[in-house]
Amino acid sequence: MGRMKANDNGIKIIIWVVAMFVLLQFLNYDWNIFNFHLFGGSRLNNDIHRNIPYDSSEFRARQIDPPLNYEPNAHIAIIPFGTPPPVHIPDVDARIIVITFNRSHSLRRLLESLNKVDYLDDKVVIEIWIDRNKDNEFDEKSYKKHAGIYGQWIWTWRPTKDTKEICVILEDDLSVSTFFYRYLKKVHAQYDHRPEVNGYALQAASLKHGGGKGPLQAPDENIVFLYPVLGSWGFSPSRDNWIGFQNWFREAHKNKTFLPLVPGILPTLWYKKELKAGTHENIWTMWQIYYAYSKNERTLYPNFPNKTGMTINWRENGLHFSKAVEVAGPLVESWDERIENLPDEPVHLDVNGTIVKY
Ligand SMILES: *[C@@H]1O[C@H](CO)[C@@H](O)[C@H](O)[C@H]1NC(C)=O
Ligand SMILES: *[C@@H]1O[C@H](CO)[C@@H](O)[C@H](O)[C@H]1NC(C)=O
Ligand SMILES: *[C@@H]1O[C@H](CO)[C@@H](O)[C@H](O)[C@H]1NC(C)=O
Ligand SMILES: *[C@@H]1O[C@H](CO)[C@@H](O)[C@H](O)[C@H]1NC(C)=O
Repeated sequence: MGRMKANDNGIKIIIWVVAMFVLLQFLNYDWNIFNFHLFGGSRLNNDIHRNIPYDSSEFRARQIDPPLNYEPNAHIAIIPFGTPPPVHIPDVDARIIVITFNRSHSLRRLLESLNKVDYLDDKVVIEIWIDRNKDNEFDEKSYKKHAGIYGQWIWTWRPTKDTKEICVILEDDLSVSTFFYRYLKKVHAQYDHRPEVNGYALQAASLKHGGGKGPLQAPDENIVFLYPVLGSWGFSPSRDNWIGFQNWFREAHKNKTFLPLVPGILPTLWYKKELKAGTHENIWTMWQIYYAYSKNERTLYPNFPNKTGMTINWRENGLHFSKAVEVAGPLVESWDERIENLPDEPVHLDVNGTIVKY
């Protein structure tokens, strides 16, 4: 596949849209976790990372649905649908990972919003990771259980220790602000060197994970704040902490008696509830929350006026905590100059939104 250079053809922004299909084997593996947990047996193989990325011969053999009727703008170069994607496109400024499963209208809505984003002059790749079940179908059962959620979240970004690329992981029920990329560049530049910052949430809306009433919010004068629980409606990991989390998860997840429970927060209650139903593997975030807790890490959240966000969530059928959170305000529509001047020391909120000393 020919790579286009930014200065060729006067094109400033090049985006590859790469459809990556998660391997059959990989999903079989996830289903295995699920079943073995249900029946209390042992797991044969815990290497969730095995066989990623996808196997192109299988991809070619697969029946492919007609492509979305998706017209990109002139700034975006798209690899023809069905082109086996390269395993990895290196040397980009940013990698946007879209994870999706049988929600083509949501995916289209997200792609349309990504299409309008100001990517400055950067080279950006969009990878679309499409999950499917072990029978190679998109069926109702796997849709609900979404067995590949761990793999889609945890193993799709594989940064090297020295990569400078920015990654953001987006589920398909989101839309993004045209300023989200500009915002991410600023916050990464300002806070990536801080070991306690594990990433950047893009959402405005969150509940207070400690169970306190009302939405999570910092006092208005703070354009950003740090918080102990990640936000998954658009999350951009900090490289080193993400590598640390992946390495820890790979081992911790092998221990069948270990549960990633964190005292005093709602996700632990949700996780325990799912545990009873045998569906706790759905809540991949619990592992990240536990890891952050054990390392005393924080996630940076935006705190824009009127609760506008860099993403909004359309709250469609899915897994996560969305039911518990009221719809956020609209997307950010203008550039807040305070982002140019981010504080050296953002406020820290605890799980009930109270300002605390770090
Ligand atoms: C995909 O989603 C549609 C509704 O959006 C549903 O009718 C259909 O059964 C789903 N297909 C599979 C294979 O899950
Ligand atoms: C958060 O608020 C809930 C409900 O008021 C309370 O039960 C919990 O102890 C609080 N947690 C913290 C850490 O303040
Ligand atoms: C597995 O987890 C349990 C419960 O947290 C712990 O007691 C045990 O030491 C762990 N085993 C290993 C091999 O780490
Ligand atoms: C916030 O909303 C109020 C009322 O809708 C509006 O008057 C104000 O201009 C908004 N502020 C910003 C910064 O958008």
